[in-house]
Amino acid sequence: MIEELRRDRNLPDAALRKLIECADYDEGLFHHADEVRREYYGTDVYIRGLIELTNYCKNDCYYCGIRRSNAQAVRYRLNKEDILECCREGYALGFRTFVLQGGEDGFYTDKIVCDIVSAIRENYPDCAITLSLGEKNRESYLAFFEAGADRYLLRHETADEEHYQKLHPSAQKLSVRKQCLWDLKKIGYQVGSGFMVGSPYQTTENLIADLRFLQELMPAMIGIGPFIPHHQTPFATCAGGTLALSLRMVAILRLMFPYALIPATTALGTIHPQGRELGLKAGANVVMPNLSPVKVRKLYELYDNKICTGEESAECRGCLERRVASAGYRIVTARGDVACKSRREG
Ligand code: 5AD
Ligand code: FES
Repeated sequence: MIEELRRDRNLPDAALRKLIECADYDEGLFHHADEVRREYYGTDVYIRGLIELTNYCKNDCYYCGIRRSNAQAVRYRLNKEDILECCREGYALGFRTFVLQGGEDGFYTDKIVCDIVSAIRENYPDCAITLSLGEKNRESYLAFFEAGADRYLLRHETADEEHYQKLHPSAQKLSVRKQCLWDLKKIGYQVGSGFMVGSPYQTTENLIADLRFLQELMPAMIGIGPFIPHHQTPFATCAGGTLALSLRMVAILRLMFPYALIPATTALGTIHPQGRELGLKAGANVVMPNLSPVKVRKLYELYDNKICTGEESAECRGCLERRVASAGYRIVTARGDVACKSRREG
């Protein structure tokens, strides 16, 4: 089954179900995933500097610590100068991709976002600018793109309509989320999508639907991580996603999407001390350390016990360098655009 998955980048649902539900295949999955990763990317690991620009959010996702209804969250916003300072520090540390991520915060109008993006574009012409600011209309996405943004991250969270409505209030719609992803792609962004592993009510069928949706979308980046409960959300007492299932899904993604940029996520590092290293060994090839100012890091709390919230950017960078090396890979400072499919296909 694993060889078929590797060869065809695809499997029928029944075989996928077996791979997802049974631990017996893990060793084979990780082995083949690592081989494929080395074939496309060698031992390179790309770093993305994450700047968490606001934790205000108008959405109310039941799983997320910065949801609108969490009255206990202490809210903050970074201004343009704060953000440019993060970039300055990041650039000196070797970052060539900046990811501006935030809640859906009306304070950041299109004009403000474009102004920030243009300033980064002007100061760092050799860097990729990634935005992760949630659902916007087509015109806004286009304006950001024209201001100099290259990439956009927007996880679909779950590709199953019914499951989506168990994770979000009725005002939030999977159809809108998917439309945003198609709009972004059409405009020319390198798009990243993804989902949580082990989110409440998730079934194996849901995970297969996630893989099928990704096969349609063919994103450049696929970000997945375990669901981790946040104590001030409706899902506070739900079980979190497991390391085993998260790693298994990373390996399956690598085999289905050999060219993809797949991060070993902070959530993975949060549920296990070596979570990110294990993620790399299962096929991940990106890490996204935090460049946000230390004073706001603890406030961007999507889930409990998030790692790296007390360290300076330089500490994180050094720590990560050692961690990646210990797993047998190497951080590179290249922008890390998606591998050209032609490496294999001519
Ligand atoms: N646990 C794990 N991941 C979460 N995210 C949001 N809340 C949680 C949580 N409690 C993820 C979502 C979102 C990304 C920015 O963080 O998938 O898209
Ligand atoms: Fe951030 Fe280790 S990666 S402190």
